[in-house]
Amino acid sequence: MKPRNGTIDLERSTSSPTMGFSKYQEAWLSRGGIVAIVIGFLFLFKFLLYQQPGLIPVDLPIGAALSSQVPETQPLCQLKNCTTQANSNITSDRAFLVDIPNSYLPRKDYIKPGSSTHELDIAKYFKVAVEDSELLHAAQDAATLPLPQGKPKVAFLFILRQKIPLEPLWERFFGGADKDSYSIYTHPSWWVDGFPENSVFFNRSISTKEVKRFDISLVDVVRRLLAFALLDTDRANMWFVLVSEACIPVRSFPFVYDYLMNSTTSFVESFSPLQRFKRWNPEPVFEMNKLRKGELWMSMHRRHAGMVVGDVTFYRKFKADCRDDCTLDEQYTQTLLHCLDPEGIANRSVTYADWSNPRHGGSPLKHTAALINSTLIEKIQNRTENLDGQYMDSSDDFNHTMQTCVYNGLPHSPCFLFARKFSGDKEDVQSLLDLPKSVLQY
Ligand SMILES: *[C@@H]1O[C@H](CO)[C@@H](O)[C@H](O)[C@H]1NC(C)=O
Ligand SMILES: *[C@@H]1O[C@H](CO)[C@@H](O)[C@H](O)[C@H]1NC(C)=O
Ligand SMILES: *[C@@H]1O[C@H](CO)[C@@H](O)[C@H](O)[C@H]1NC(C)=O
Ligand SMILES: *[C@@H]1O[C@H](CO)[C@@H](O)[C@H](O)[C@H]1NC(C)=O
Ligand SMILES: *[C@@H]1O[C@H](CO)[C@@H](O)[C@H](O)[C@H]1NC(C)=O
Ligand SMILES: *[C@@H]1O[C@H](CO)[C@@H](O)[C@H](O)[C@H]1NC(C)=O
Ligand SMILES: *[C@@H]1O[C@H](CO)[C@@H](O)[C@H](O)[C@H]1NC(C)=O
Ligand SMILES: *[C@@H]1O[C@H](CO)[C@@H](O)[C@H](O)[C@H]1NC(C)=O
Repeated sequence: MKPRNGTIDLERSTSSPTMGFSKYQEAWLSRGGIVAIVIGFLFLFKFLLYQQPGLIPVDLPIGAALSSQVPETQPLCQLKNCTTQANSNITSDRAFLVDIPNSYLPRKDYIKPGSSTHELDIAKYFKVAVEDSELLHAAQDAATLPLPQGKPKVAFLFILRQKIPLEPLWERFFGGADKDSYSIYTHPSWWVDGFPENSVFFNRSISTKEVKRFDISLVDVVRRLLAFALLDTDRANMWFVLVSEACIPVRSFPFVYDYLMNSTTSFVESFSPLQRFKRWNPEPVFEMNKLRKGELWMSMHRRHAGMVVGDVTFYRKFKADCRDDCTLDEQYTQTLLHCLDPEGIANRSVTYADWSNPRHGGSPLKHTAALINSTLIEKIQNRTENLDGQYMDSSDDFNHTMQTCVYNGLPHSPCFLFARKFSGDKEDVQSLLDLPKSVLQY
């Protein structure tokens, strides 16, 4: 049994495992039953590992019914009685804030869950490169509370490696939205400059950490973005859409909003990659046949966002052991959600990518100007089957329902709201901007 990796600083205050020995165990002890103790600890360890995910108290139902059922809520601080404790020192706290240019700082204090005295100062996550344990913990806590007041929103979480060359397109997209129905959070790479004041991306960035593809850092960024959006008590973020600078919307905002808000499942591509990948033994955290893979660009309901920020066990296992064929960013969330809520995810994405070229070299087709025209966009919009998905590459389960896009139980439904990959090259951007608005619908 591999000991817990001390460098993984994602500790949680679960109930203490120091339960007393039973009479039987005492008897064994007195007979020197070392083996029994060892076996006992192994079982206890396994039990704790299995138990932890189950303890995540995220029990939010998904679907249309929810938006009408969202109860009148109190602000987080009232629920936690933190007003007096945390806000009293707001002035002195501000002295410690680092001014991150162009940052969206939810400058609020939160009580650390499980403690009535410790103040969680969100701002400190802008100062230190941490494992984010408190941030995630608080976010999970927030996910279990009723949605903040206001119209339920779709939170767009941008993971950016460069400035958004397609910004004019996104501006048009958000221009067609009710301002009260979306939120934007960006995680720019550190070299990305701020956005101008008139941009929808202005003052929307969370603190930045280095990100590498296929690396745990990408999972960390996803969790941080989810956490900030969950903790933002000013905004009733109900859905969370992960996008990059290479993504575009292929529907109008109202279409996207209805599609997500009315959905009874999250859109997380999830297929079994075992055909290709057999080496890893992830037990006892989960059985190998539960391993799932899919694209990072997913859209999930608050319920699942809560599960992703609240997980410790799967995270540890993936971080410690996921190597070689195991691609963290494409397997961690997928496996976690498949294990915790298999019926709650549609097993497909709403973000189109073209993996149809068998020699894709690990990256889907980049749509350059030569490929961009109305037909391309219409074809993507018209899709009711996902025939170019990543699963074509390495799924065990070729003939499974992933080919047919099921929406609220209805097969052959429109599959896609977003598409990738589009380059930032001037010519390619221009050809997208030149598309008739009647085609993109925005
Ligand atoms: C919060 O404060 C109210 C009144 O100030 C009190 O009645 C209530 O018990 C407190 N709740 C908690 C969880 O401390
Ligand atoms: C507020 O700040 C003052 C001065 O730094 C400190 O003495 C006091 O204990 C703080 N109060 C709380 C509730 O943290
Ligand atoms: C950035 O957003 C925060 C949170 O909404 C707000 O308090 C702050 O004033 C904004 N900063 C600028 C420069 O607009
Ligand atoms: C989604 O729900 C809204 C009301 O919340 C309704 O107006 C709309 O027609 C629904 N859309 C679909 C596709 O069911
Ligand atoms: C997703 O796939 C799993 C099996 O991997 C299945 O149990 C689940 O029902 C599927 N989800 C939906 C919404 O069909
Ligand atoms: C759109 O581009 C594709 C690929 O280059 C091409 O086959 C198709 O004829 C084009 N359609 C139109 C309407 O130009
Ligand atoms: C997409 O569907 C619409 C409506 O059914 C149809 O008019 C159009 O020709 C289709 N476009 C493509 C490229 O399949
Ligand atoms: C998929 O379905 C086709 C036709 O129904 C069948 O010939 C093929 O063997 C199936 N493949 C797998 C992997 O089940």
